Order: sequence, then C-alpha cells, then structure tokens
Amino acid sequence: MERTLVILKPSAVRRGLIGKVLTRFEDKGLQIIGMKMVFLSDSVLEVHYVHLKEKPFFKRIKDSMQVSPVVALCLKGVGVVEVVRAMTGPTNGRVAPAGTIRGDYSVSVQENIIHASDSAETAKVEVERFFKEDELFDYPQLMLPNIYANDEY
Ligand code: PPS
Repeated sequence: MERTLVILKPSAVRRGLIGKVLTRFEDKGLQIIGMKMVFLSDSVLEVHYVHLKEKPFFKRIKDSMQVSPVVALCLKGVGVVEVVRAMTGPTNGRVAPAGTIRGDYSVSVQENIIHASDSAETAKVEVERFFKEDELFDYPQLMLPNIYANDEY
C-alpha cells in the first residue's frame, strides 16, 4: 500500500490544531504508520524546499518552518498521496475550498497548516527524508475490511 509524508507546519502546532488535523486523517480511514515532533534544521529545509531555492520567499518559508517544532507524519492507504492532497486543498488557504484542511483552517499561502507530498515519487523521497525505516510501523489496521472492499487493497 502507498505511503505519503505530511508535515504539520508551525501554523498548525502553534495554533493547537494538531489533534484536529490528525483526526481528519484517522476519520478518513488512513493509517498513521509514523509520527514524530521534530525541529527542522537549515540543512533539511534546504533540501526539502530546493525547488523553491531561487524564489524571493525562500528565506521567509525557511524561517516560518523554524518558528516551532513541526509534526512529521507518514500515512498509509490505497492511493494515499492523491487522497491526502485532495484533503489538503490548494496552496493558498484563501482559495482552498471549505472542507479541505487549508480551506477550513488557513487564509495564507505560507501559513497553510500542512505540507503534503505531491506525487508518489516525491512521497517516497520525502518519507525517507523524515523517517528511518525503523521509525515506521507495520501493524494491522483491524478495520481494513470496513475501510476498503477486499479487491481494493
Ligand atoms: S510546489 O511546486 O508544489 O512546491 O508549489 P506549491 O505547492 O505552491 O508549494 C510552494 C510551497 O511554498 C510555500 N510558500 C509559497 N508558495 C508560493 N508563493 C508564496 N508567496 C509562498 N510562500 C510560501 C507554500 O506554503 C508551499 O509550501 P509546502 O510546504 O510545499 O506546502
């Protein structure tokens, strides 16, 4: 089954939204297989946001990701990358539809609550960036037959 990486940004941590965001993923039927609070170093952020390195807001993003620790999550499910991106909504919280995480909790492009991997390829790299293999847990999701049809997983 597919895995994806989510980061609950300082905008979620400082506003006390960790529980609400986690509940959305659990309610959806996604399995949390890795979770930790971590302070992101300059070097991790420089790799994680390397595609934005030339943007004028690069330093601002880095600074905002270091305002507090973040919570890194690894979620597992069928098509989980796409499912989580749909739950996340577009980057700009002001235009993200109500019902998405960004649409419900943010009004900003930067302070937009979570980061979520944008493709299966990116997810693989990003999960490995934040979690060692022994920090990811393989445990039975007991309700699996009630979450998927048996030919879906
Ligand atoms: S991309 O190519 O998918 O990473 O682009 P995008 O999804 O828009 O993500 C850009 C990340 O940079 C943060 N950010 C901004 N983006 C655009 N414009 C401005 N001004 C800006 N400021 C900050 C934005 O929150 C995205 O962070 P992540 O962690 O990837 O969601």
